[in-house]
Amino acid sequence: MDLLGRSYLKDSDLNAEEYEAVLDLAARLREEKRSRRERRRLEGRTIALLFEKTSTRTRSAFEVGARDQGAHAVYMGPGETQFGVKESTKDTARVLGRMFDGIEFRGFRQSDAEELAAYAGVPVWNGLTDRWHPTQSLADLLTMRDHARRPLRDLSVCFVGDGAANTCASLLVAGALMGMDVRVAAPAARQPAPSVLAEATTLAAASGGSVRVTDDPHAAVAGVDFLYTDVWVSLGEPDELWDERIDLLLPYQVNVDLVEATGNPHVRFLHCLPAFHDTHTEIGRRVFEKRGLRAMEVTDDVFESPASAVFDEAENRLHTVKALLVATLAGDGG
Ligand code: CP
Repeated sequence: MDLLGRSYLKDSDLNAEEYEAVLDLAARLREEKRSRRERRRLEGRTIALLFEKTSTRTRSAFEVGARDQGAHAVYMGPGETQFGVKESTKDTARVLGRMFDGIEFRGFRQSDAEELAAYAGVPVWNGLTDRWHPTQSLADLLTMRDHARRPLRDLSVCFVGDGAANTCASLLVAGALMGMDVRVAAPAARQPAPSVLAEATTLAAASGGSVRVTDDPHAAVAGVDFLYTDVWVSLGEPDELWDERIDLLLPYQVNVDLVEATGNPHVRFLHCLPAFHDTHTEIGRRVFEKRGLRAMEVTDDVFESPASAVFDEAENRLHTVKALLVATLAGDGG
């Protein structure tokens, strides 16, 4: 793997060997951390974390990952910099690139991530845009590999719900790249963009994987190893969309009935989080008061069940982001 100096803006920026190598490095770094033998490979480096949207996991993964490896991270939250309002993306890239060794960007436009990478002169890591969530899929695939204890090419995953969202796009492309059987169950209005599907289909043809999109959730999940869902209104979309999305996506809720439809007693549940599985959030309470729903994309009994791997998946954000930092800033990480 030679990722030194490279950016990671979308899943297919890595080839299958590189992707697997990042997962292997993440597993190795996880073991080092757990056994308190972690070697600091990024001593003296400083990275910028430029966020146009809020975050718990992605910010934490970059901050803790950098700190564990001896690097310093500077967080710039929504509205805290001149970016986009008083300063162009191109100028921001050239300024941050003079001061930092790498830039994490979470924002709206994929074109901003690409422009930052084109002009910064240092690696840029996409921490989520409206199009892709490629650091999330690294953690997802590592979690699937861990739980199944089988190679990714032998595994199947079905994303159920908002198939047009960035998390689904990244899962689809990353899974196809790695030879997985990837399925999407979503209503016609919220299926993956044709360009995403075309890219995933091409990658699956090369890797021996498969890609299938349907509007029938029960048929889609038959025999699957992993069930995956995400929130029905994504970060950055307006709150006004909740009613429309609930009407559209309620038949795609991951509940006990859908878990049983897999026919797989060992099926595992994944979610990138945060999740609306109860009424213990502001939005969850609002939806309950208006619609009488106690959960949205996943019911609490599934979320809290032994089949749920969501907190392993959240922890793996740290190990995979750290692997990405080490690979792109220090080389192989050996
Ligand atoms: N899954 C994810 O990206 O979480 P955050 O929005 O908290 O970073």
